[in-house]
Amino acid sequence: MARNDTCGTDVARAVEILRSGGVVGLPTETVYGLGADASNPSAVERIFRIKGRPADHPLIVHVADLAHARLWSKNWTTHAQVLADAFWPGPLTLILERAPHVIDQITGGRDSVAIRCPSHPLMQRVLVALDGGVAAPSANRFGKVSPTTAQHVMEDLGLDVDYVLDGGPCDIGVESTIVDCTVDPPQVLRPGGISEAQIVDVLGAIATASGPSRAPGMMLSHYAPDCRVHAVETLRDAEEEREVLSGSGSVVILDATIDPDRFASSMYAQLRECDRKGVHDVIVVLPADRGIGRAIRDRIFKASIRD
Ligand code: TXA
Ligand code: MG
Repeated sequence: MARNDTCGTDVARAVEILRSGGVVGLPTETVYGLGADASNPSAVERIFRIKGRPADHPLIVHVADLAHARLWSKNWTTHAQVLADAFWPGPLTLILERAPHVIDQITGGRDSVAIRCPSHPLMQRVLVALDGGVAAPSANRFGKVSPTTAQHVMEDLGLDVDYVLDGGPCDIGVESTIVDCTVDPPQVLRPGGISEAQIVDVLGAIATASGPSRAPGMMLSHYAPDCRVHAVETLRDAEEEREVLSGSGSVVILDATIDPDRFASSMYAQLRECDRKGVHDVIVVLPADRGIGRAIRDRIFKASIRD
């Protein structure tokens, strides 16, 4: 395949490649995914090889609608139904008991499976045409910044994927909220595009997180650019920090407090841009811990952890 036509807007081609066991970069409203047919073990294994992701980190199965979602779980709960009715298609992933046919490559051998119905129109067309599930993690190398444009996917993985479907820049810009529906009340495992308040609104109650996260891979340094990321609470703190850091190289301040939703949608692109410019330190003024602010804080804290 000619490398110069690896990226485009051809939905039929993306579907054809998925059907024949290939791996495709796919747009969603959160971040771009690295997708393969969720019923094809060797195609799913290729995702892990391309990402450099440990085999026991489970993947999300993406589906067109509720009817398809139910096929991947053997115990569709009332809570799952309420959440799906309220927020699908959209940036919400549900953890449920896996159906017997779900392959171990997706679940990492767990009893549960992650399922999401994304809203991006091109992704919807792919999923409807495929009439199945697409297993997809974010389309970045393991531990690095998630991609929010087709260009980002090409830069990170272009030589390794069969095609990248270009659906424009992602609206939301941070990964989906993950809710574990195998426990009662359900528990938020990862903050994301749907806020905890929105979930409490429809469910009444949720379990508050205690102890280490049960979503594998979430305690590690993650979402990390090459530049060093510093999280602060106020612009004044940011300016003080800049004084301290200015000896070591160029320093950039990003203020997430002004419009957190807008900041989220360009957050990863801004971190990538800082890397491109060789910025040494990025100081992020964190938004309040509510709405999308919680997801921003989570990602920036993880980006600030160095291995
Ligand atoms: O917005 C998103 O969720 C994006 C787009 C592409 O859909 N996907 C994404 O995938 O962020 P990934 O692989 O980067 O993150 C999936 C998270 C991981 O933290 C994984 O541990 C968790 O979902 N996960 C998957 N299956 C799980 C399971 N059975 N139990 C607990 N956590 C699970
Ligand atoms: Mg990821």
